[in-house]
Amino acid sequence: MKKWNGLVYVVFCVGIFLHADTKNGEKLFKTYCWGCHHQTAEAFGPSFRTIANKRSRGEIMAQIADPEHTYKQLGYKRNSMPAFDDLSAADLQALTNYIYSFKDKK
Ligand code: HEC
Repeated sequence: MKKWNGLVYVVFCVGIFLHADTKNGEKLFKTYCWGCHHQTAEAFGPSFRTIANKRSRGEIMAQIADPEHTYKQLGYKRNSMPAFDDLSAADLQALTNYIYSFKDKK
């Protein structure tokens, strides 16, 4: 039994870390994205649920950082989303994890 203590501890820490990360993603979302995207309802832009169900993490991060270069690839005729190119890699990760938290469980 004892040898599992370390593993339980690691799982616990990773859990806390992921939780904090999603919280940060939620804060970033409310600060930067909420005017145009809502979590589960379509707004000016698609909902995070729609996005999570059809895009890869790479596509999502690329769109946030540089939509001018990704919108065509994602099938849009024009781009109406500003680039958030001053976000850190950690912020991009947190936002992407937050978007993915709306993915439908299959
Ligand atoms: C001014 C409005 C606006 C803001 C602010 C905005 N978006 Fe968008 N977003 C759009 C629109 C409109 C689209 C549709 C494609 C386009 O115009 O490039 C889009 C598309 C996207 C897509 C790709 C959708 C797909 O089909 O997969 C992602 C991912 C995305 N936005 C994430 C974000 C995130 C994360 C933020 C906040 C950091 C954000 N957006 C802020 C308007 C906005």
